[in-house]
Amino acid sequence: MTLVPGTIRPPRRLDDVPGWFPVLDQVLFEWFLDRQETAGTRGDLLEVGVYMGKSAIFLGRHGQDGENFTVCDLFEGDALDDANQAESTKSYSALTQQVFEENYLAFHDTLPRVLKGPSSIVPDKVDPASCRFVHIDASHLYEHVRDDIGAAREALLPGGIVVLDDFRSEHTPGVSVAVWEAVLTRGLRPICLSTQKLYGTWEDPGPVQDELLAMVRGREDCNLSIQQAAGHRIVRLKSKKGMQAPPFPPSRFAHRAVEVAPEPATAKAASRGRSSTRARRFAADLLPPILTRAIRNGLSRS
Ligand SMILES: C[S@@+](CC[C@H](N)C(=O)[O-])C[C@H]1O[C@@H](n2cnc3c(N)ncnc32)[C@H](O)[C@@H]1O
Repeated sequence: MTLVPGTIRPPRRLDDVPGWFPVLDQVLFEWFLDRQETAGTRGDLLEVGVYMGKSAIFLGRHGQDGENFTVCDLFEGDALDDANQAESTKSYSALTQQVFEENYLAFHDTLPRVLKGPSSIVPDKVDPASCRFVHIDASHLYEHVRDDIGAAREALLPGGIVVLDDFRSEHTPGVSVAVWEAVLTRGLRPICLSTQKLYGTWEDPGPVQDELLAMVRGREDCNLSIQQAAGHRIVRLKSKKGMQAPPFPPSRFAHRAVEVAPEPATAKAASRGRSSTRARRFAADLLPPILTRAIRNGLSRS
């Protein structure tokens, strides 16, 4: 089992897997995928940009019999250009394909089809009109995201859902430009926005939006606002404090003692690492999961 500094290994719950997959997006993924499954929609799943597997592990539970799940990531490989390489070195230096696969197999019996390399390989590997759900969460550079959106459009079946991450983060203007360009000039229709992701389709979004609005209005843990922009109905969602993620089964290691990899070796980081490691071990081994999670979240914010 590969140890990544500061992370709980092996993961016992989805929350133990490092990544960026907010609770509201977990609720929305579950809703969009369940809706397709209930309607009898069949098609493959695709995620571009998996990091250590948090959203991929979640998506992997939705593969129905006969459907394929494909993921693509650079992992520890080189990017094709300096800007993408700089982004990878800065933000994803602990990532390897092995860590992703170990995390994934903690929750699932088999791996998805793993494409190691830049997302530009996706169109050659994924059949046109084969997917019902595509999550784009890879490079933040305009040219890459523009092409990833093009690949998603090609890969999706009619009525398929695309989810575009980081479409409005302060540090990712290239994603914003590519996403809104696709809305204004390439036929992408927004279904809804979460804080981090835009959910869209290349079909009429009206029916799915109406169902989504009914679902959200029935919940008390989600703020809703509706605006019009350039002829699009924009449904904006924001979680209220206390929103719970959909239940997700624990990993096969749920009852095993955890290892916490040491933090990096600067003196300050090392001492912070030691105390947080001790607290995490104590929390993981002795306390009920809800308290463990609270302590872990507190430590990772500090
Ligand atoms: C924000 S992370 C993905 C987060 C993940 N979906 C989660 O739930 O935590 C972005 C990922 O995209 C990968 N990536 C960056 N540039 C890429 C590219 N050009 N092609 C494929 N993957 C890329 C990185 O290696 C990293 O794992």
